[in-house]
Amino acid sequence: MRIKIRSPRWYDGVDNASHRPYLRAVGFTEEDFSKPLVGVLAAWSELGPCNYHTLELARYVKEGVKEAGGVGLAAPTIVVNDGINMGTPGMRYSLISRDLIADTIEAQFNAHGVDAWIGIGGCDKTQPGIMMAMARLDLPAVYLYGGTAEAGWLGERELTIEDAFEAVGAHLSGKITQEELRRVEELSFPTYGTCQGLFTANTMAILAEALGVSLLGSATPPATSARRRAYAVASGRAALRAAELGVTPRKVITYDALYNAAVTLFATAGSTNGVLHLLAIAHEAGVKFTLDDFDEASRKVPVIAALRPAGPYAMQDLDRIGGAPRILKKLYRAGLLRPEALTVEGEPIGKLLERWQPPAVPEAGVLYDVERPYKPYSGIRILRGNLAPSGAVMKIGATNALKFEGRARVYDGEADAFKAVAAGEIRPGNVVVIRYEGPKGAPGMPEMLKVTAAIVGAGLGESVALVTDGRFSGATRGIMVGHVAPEAAVGGPIALVEDGDRIAIDGDAGLLKLDVPDEELERRRKSWSPPKPNYAGGLLAKYAALVQQADRGAVTTPSPLSVDY
Ligand code: FES
Repeated sequence: MRIKIRSPRWYDGVDNASHRPYLRAVGFTEEDFSKPLVGVLAAWSELGPCNYHTLELARYVKEGVKEAGGVGLAAPTIVVNDGINMGTPGMRYSLISRDLIADTIEAQFNAHGVDAWIGIGGCDKTQPGIMMAMARLDLPAVYLYGGTAEAGWLGERELTIEDAFEAVGAHLSGKITQEELRRVEELSFPTYGTCQGLFTANTMAILAEALGVSLLGSATPPATSARRRAYAVASGRAALRAAELGVTPRKVITYDALYNAAVTLFATAGSTNGVLHLLAIAHEAGVKFTLDDFDEASRKVPVIAALRPAGPYAMQDLDRIGGAPRILKKLYRAGLLRPEALTVEGEPIGKLLERWQPPAVPEAGVLYDVERPYKPYSGIRILRGNLAPSGAVMKIGATNALKFEGRARVYDGEADAFKAVAAGEIRPGNVVVIRYEGPKGAPGMPEMLKVTAAIVGAGLGESVALVTDGRFSGATRGIMVGHVAPEAAVGGPIALVEDGDRIAIDGDAGLLKLDVPDEELERRRKSWSPPKPNYAGGLLAKYAALVQQADRGAVTTPSPLSVDY
């Protein structure tokens, strides 16, 4: 198979005789110049466990490329480790890194004329960044997940990193000793790979299968498993097969595929970040897929997976019973998926799922049926109302409370809110409002895991709600409303909330209401003025100048097909 889509413009003919020495210098033979040039993108870093091993996976991908008749060359992109940055100024770089990753891929692969590529992700933002680049470049491409870390064990108790975050809150509120906290710290992350629950990284890996951009079954094998390496080889082969078939990402990332991903997100009670990232991927693909589409899907789908934080199980438990295809097949059989959506494998997802057979292993409480679900409602709801005219995202899969009413305790930034929780100042019935943490304001919509874990750790998970224009970690649980749009920094109504205001959250009705008369809000608006930007220069200032609101996926580039919202 010799599909050279555009590399001849860079490397063939007399004109390019001066270009070829560069590739001869990295090992190209005469014959290699006649083969497709395949980029093997590894989001790689030793600054955390999530993408620690992706260079090794890249070697396996290159084997698959070679088997299929291409030449693979590896190239890196950056990783910002969300867990390490949680609650620090570093968190502001997390979402920003997603768009930066997409930009670095565009720059590298467009500059060097690759014909096709495989992107290896891991930590939260590397995955949507790669999928955004897939849509943006629209060259034959396959996404490969780096894989989850194995769960830890404390006696009989299965540990994930969520336990470490919540143990901090439990220790601060006197529920566990420092020694107990240290044991959790030592045991909660025993191998490289990503955070072990259905947090953002594992959510995005499962959504990649639902979206059709990665091989069916490739999301759940742990980072350390031999099966992951086998998927790496297969992904290398698949990219060239996609090239042969003319399957490019924009043929895959269609409205139907995005709908399938949204349904899967809701059925698994996945991370709220999934909404933001799918909006951004849709934007890059030029597909009009908005919060209204999420809203529609969310009303049809119950939660069928008991994965952390909504349930007790880790990604490796899902892997044992067949992985993401077992979830997708249930949704497909229940008529909740759009089966005609094409995948990178060159076949519609319905056809792949028809063929896929689950292993003869009982589901053991990890998965449920659509007819007898784990929870009768979707894991995430879209809210609107006078506090979020452009929308907000409520995480409900990991709580039992669909509705909440309480009095606002307002903080301009996460740090002050965390101090208040740690000092025991937050009481049952409070709605903690954390603002000026939006896409432009922070900038970069930091995740609030430190403060949400502290609320849960203090035993307030069912009696205190949190509303923010920032984001949540996938490990967050409790009554949480994020992505409030417009954000405070651009004058959204969240900027006008005062201590003691009554706020009503209704996941059933899709409502987020600030119980303050319009005239009073108007009076407050007159005395509001936009804050000075937090950063005058550098990447954070550049990002703040470009970024759009959360209901547009917080993207930083124009849509390729000028989608009319
Ligand atoms: Fe990388 Fe959790 S910090 S996946």
